[in-house]
Amino acid sequence: MTDRPRISARIGGISESATLAVDAKAKALKAAGHPVIGFGAGEPDFPTPDYIVEAAVAACRDSRFHRYTPAGGLPELKEAIAAKTLRDSGYRVEPNQVLVTNGGKQAIYEAFATLLDPGDEVIVIAPYWTTYPESIRLAGGTPVYVVTDESTGYLATVEQLEAARTDRTKVLLFVSPSNPTGAVYSPEQVREIGRWALEHNLWVLTDEIYEHLVYGDARFSSMPVEVPELADRTVVVNGVAKTYAMTGWRVGWLIGPVDVVKAATNLQSHATSNVANVSQAAALAAVSGDLSAVEEMKQAFDRRRQTIVRMLNEIPGVVCPEPQGAFYAYPSVKEILGKEIRGQRPQTSSELASLILEHAKVAVVPGEAFGTPGYLRLSYALSDADLVEGVSRIAKLLSEAH
Ligand SMILES: Cc1ncc(COP(=O)(O)O)c(C=O)c1O
Repeated sequence: MTDRPRISARIGGISESATLAVDAKAKALKAAGHPVIGFGAGEPDFPTPDYIVEAAVAACRDSRFHRYTPAGGLPELKEAIAAKTLRDSGYRVEPNQVLVTNGGKQAIYEAFATLLDPGDEVIVIAPYWTTYPESIRLAGGTPVYVVTDESTGYLATVEQLEAARTDRTKVLLFVSPSNPTGAVYSPEQVREIGRWALEHNLWVLTDEIYEHLVYGDARFSSMPVEVPELADRTVVVNGVAKTYAMTGWRVGWLIGPVDVVKAATNLQSHATSNVANVSQAAALAAVSGDLSAVEEMKQAFDRRRQTIVRMLNEIPGVVCPEPQGAFYAYPSVKEILGKEIRGQRPQTSSELASLILEHAKVAVVPGEAFGTPGYLRLSYALSDADLVEGVSRIAKLLSEAH
């Protein structure tokens, strides 16, 4: 027994979330008195709107919420999520197609655990959000990557997806607007990709968590609305985190065919049971209310987006396509790698990110975390003043590269 590994191979193979690690390192440096500016966090810098907080306070005092509730979510919340989905994306679903989860993260894991058998492949477009591959592997599946770059604004084509498809492909993972690139597919592109998935009998997991954060002429569109015949093989993931500045409340959901939702609910009933009722009551107030809070945040994000893209592109060797959604910029720094800065020659974006943290006291996430070395991710969900100061510090440091 003694030589058995202490940690199972399945869990031992999971790496730490790189984005949370960068954020933790930046916060620790800050706590130690260093003037660190963090571009690492994937969360709005606004407080949760008051009316949502008030609903939670009232729920705390209601003894109904002091007890277990149905594992799949409060019936009134499932109903409100179905109504909100019709309002916001035009997708008509019934409450029994909704499972309320501990954030979008749990929805993604449960969806893969419900759909995948060992050996099943999932097509993942890179740069990808760091959680996706781990979630797929944990569920026994195999991620297969389709790599995009700045030359296409990080958008994948049907031809690229088709080249990655095999007899084992079961699911296409789709996210628009995207974390980490901010890329947004047009309704025509969503339709084209959806029809391709339909033609090849694939399932689609579509992550719509940034649906309300699109800028300029970009438009969000939902794949099962663009291709209604795909609905029976589509799982939509969403949540309150980004739209209502509620990352800490941990409420998300998945929407899918009834049999999938029932199976995923069984899984959740043994893993975590119901999401905390107070958080569900807050989420109910959020999705039942209007979208004025996200409109306000969106204006601030749009302003910061334009500033950060302009400032990054002014740095020699940095190339940053304009993100159309979410709150991330994803510049290429490939031309800077290998050059000398402060006596060091960073060869990878990971080494460059460490150097930037050390010498400019600015935290950014290296592209390695998203499957594409040679890039950095900067979240622009921070104050305008910090944003300008942070990018100025990076620009000053990188201007020394030779
Ligand atoms: C693309 C994407 N999907 C899902 C999530 C999950 O969010 P949460 O679990 O906080 O609801 C995130 C959070 O960063 C994300 O960026």
